[in-house]
Amino acid sequence: MNPWLFGFRDFEPGDEGRREALCTLGNGYFATRGAAPESRADGAHYPGTYVASCYNRLTTTVAGHEVENESLVNMPNWLLLTFRIDDGPWFDLAQVEVLHHDQELDLERGILVRRLRFRDRQARTTRVVQRRFVHMSRPHLAGLETTLVAEDWSGTITFRSGIDGRVTNCGVARYRDLEGHHLVDHQTFEVAPNITVLHARTSQSHIRVAEAARFRAFAGGELVDVDQSLDRQDDLIAHDLALAVAQQAEVRVEKIVSLHTSLDRASTEPVAEAVNEVRDAAGFDELARSHSLAWARLHHRFHYGLSMSDGAQEAVHLHLFHLLQTISPNTADLDAGVPARGLHGEAYRGHVFWDELFVLPTLNLRMPQLARALLTYRYRRLPQARKAAHDAGFSGAMFPWQSGSNGREESQHLHLNPRSGNWLPDHTHLQRHIGIAIAYNAWHYYQASGDEEFLSDFGAEMILEIARFFSSLTHYDRSRDRYTIRGVVGPDEYHTAYPGRDRPGIDNNAYTNVMTAWLCRTAVHVLRELPDQRRGELIDDLEIRHAEIDRWKRISQRMFVPFHGNGIISQFDGYDRLAELDWDAYRQRYGDIQRLDRILEAENDDPNRYQASKQADVLMLFYLLSAEELEDILGKLGYPMPPETIPRNIEYYQQRTSHGSTLSAVVHAWVLARSRRHQAMEFFDRVLASDLHDTQHGTTSEGIHLAAMAGSIDLLQRCFAGIEVRDGELHLNPLWPTELGPLELSIHYQGQPVTIKVTGRTATIRTTPGKKRLPITCTCGSRTVCLGPGETARFSLERPTGGADPTTFAP
Ligand code: BGC
Repeated sequence: MNPWLFGFRDFEPGDEGRREALCTLGNGYFATRGAAPESRADGAHYPGTYVASCYNRLTTTVAGHEVENESLVNMPNWLLLTFRIDDGPWFDLAQVEVLHHDQELDLERGILVRRLRFRDRQARTTRVVQRRFVHMSRPHLAGLETTLVAEDWSGTITFRSGIDGRVTNCGVARYRDLEGHHLVDHQTFEVAPNITVLHARTSQSHIRVAEAARFRAFAGGELVDVDQSLDRQDDLIAHDLALAVAQQAEVRVEKIVSLHTSLDRASTEPVAEAVNEVRDAAGFDELARSHSLAWARLHHRFHYGLSMSDGAQEAVHLHLFHLLQTISPNTADLDAGVPARGLHGEAYRGHVFWDELFVLPTLNLRMPQLARALLTYRYRRLPQARKAAHDAGFSGAMFPWQSGSNGREESQHLHLNPRSGNWLPDHTHLQRHIGIAIAYNAWHYYQASGDEEFLSDFGAEMILEIARFFSSLTHYDRSRDRYTIRGVVGPDEYHTAYPGRDRPGIDNNAYTNVMTAWLCRTAVHVLRELPDQRRGELIDDLEIRHAEIDRWKRISQRMFVPFHGNGIISQFDGYDRLAELDWDAYRQRYGDIQRLDRILEAENDDPNRYQASKQADVLMLFYLLSAEELEDILGKLGYPMPPETIPRNIEYYQQRTSHGSTLSAVVHAWVLARSRRHQAMEFFDRVLASDLHDTQHGTTSEGIHLAAMAGSIDLLQRCFAGIEVRDGELHLNPLWPTELGPLELSIHYQGQPVTIKVTGRTATIRTTPGKKRLPITCTCGSRTVCLGPGETARFSLERPTGGADPTTFAP
């Protein structure tokens, strides 16, 4: 088994959606699902093309309410390619005897291959091979090549190659009551005998999109003229290309497509750009070569020398592949965030949540410029976040839980429970902790990259404004002599209100409160870190007074954190007083209870009544903060938390979590890694299986779970290999599962390439030689070494005392 090849055999209509999502090809600018080129949205297939950040808003009346939703738009389908023999019907997989069908995704080169052999009703046998790419270094270009062999017949083969603008957003069943016609004003043109173009506009955001397609036909390897005709409608344009084919002869049609929008930079207008690019583009083979070269460079940068089992390697390669197809070097120049479901489907309407918290750690140490670009997506929306805070009666910046085009809150007000058919009020927008994730990401990007300019120009302002918002969200509770936060929702979305209370939100979500203490102390730290001049400017511009800084300091010392018995952090005030759920009974009755919220609502019950969590909430604290950091934060708050209470907390919440989000397994693998290795590996396997085996039963077809995919890579890098950046130092704490074989990787730390090899509890670190390189400080266990350019250090934590044993020497 080659762990760089991933694929499917046969055709299974019921599984086609998952396969299409997993075979999506993309380059960070746009992505196209792995749908069969001859298909339309028909219940089994769902061709979808999505351009990063191309959103549009539409209004629908549901359950008597007018709701406006913003969605990532499904763009015209450039794949359209089908064929027919003589005057027979257009090819339809369901109408022929399929002798062979497989799809193979080459994760190394970024090429999807489909092989098909069939016998039609006239008993003619035909072989077809299709290859496609979405070009990694020419972000507007894609290619589809179809090679056909007439095995036992001769006649005329007619290919139909076109662009289909009759698409809507209807890929997610539970959104189908919502309006999905985003494209209007379709126009089509034939601009040259072999070049067509389709232009359309999004109805509300007025983004213009143009797709131009060029075909070339070959027989016996030679470019040939074809007998061609044009089918030109307003929203579809296609060339029919007829060629004579002899028995056992091979004919080939290549289609090169260029996609441009009015959001592009360095562009006059999309039609001209698409047509010019496609006219000048090289042929399929040459483009496939340059595309594979771009992938080779990316793989080099994200190299993981892994020798784990083939299955696990394949999953890791697949995850890395989809991460880099969603966020690639092409993203660096875009105004794009991290869409939770990739550019692979329409779940969550392409919105951006807190999921970048699971994506940035990998990018920070591999391609920091991408992490920076994603953070500037947030910075550009700072004015909108300030307005949201102001309109809600707060100060600073309140970032939206779901973000899209301009940073307005895009969370839905109503959502459908597909189990009960009920439309329900949705209060998940009260997840104010999104702001903390943004501040955390900005601070950690700065730590890993040493990018002082970023901190000065963007990062500090965001962190300060977010701290200011959280400070205004806190109330001083005199009776407790503590700061409290009321009426929010934590990462666990099952609890959005107290049973019987008419206003939404819960009080003192421990995750939000502890992280607010972290945020306030970080804001003070950031001010200290800035150069004098910039600090002065920001203090003036944001009108930060001493009293405000004093309040941040007090919050970081007097924030309230709820606990109940035996050192257990309460997920929120009153969590321990909620009823216990009979987990075994529910598992017996329903089997899969990941979406316990839907089950309970359909039973006329309410998840708010139970000590039952969708995903890690309290445990997020152990995920984001090291044990020392957490102990320090809680200690300063006056809540001593001895290390032995951590496993008790993990166990308590593990027993009460349904893992209704794929993020939950990432966090659980992490928090168990150092105490219960076996369970941690089970959760790790679960993360690897999330999309590969569609563990949420049907959600993968609606788009991949990008944070879980990126989270698995992060687990390897930061958790198992133990490579972390803290307090301006590189920390190594290897606990690498020996069953995975040694790991060798190359990271970028504070602008320098560094190679690290890890196995078990030992690590070797090597810096790159070079006159301009600065020494780096690296800590492992209780020992710290300073490494000059081209130096190597070996560490071992294997001794029972846990002390490091570094040896440093020049090469
Ligand atoms: C999770 C959120 C996540 C969102 C998008 C939800 O199911 O509960 O934490 O941000 O999916 O991935």
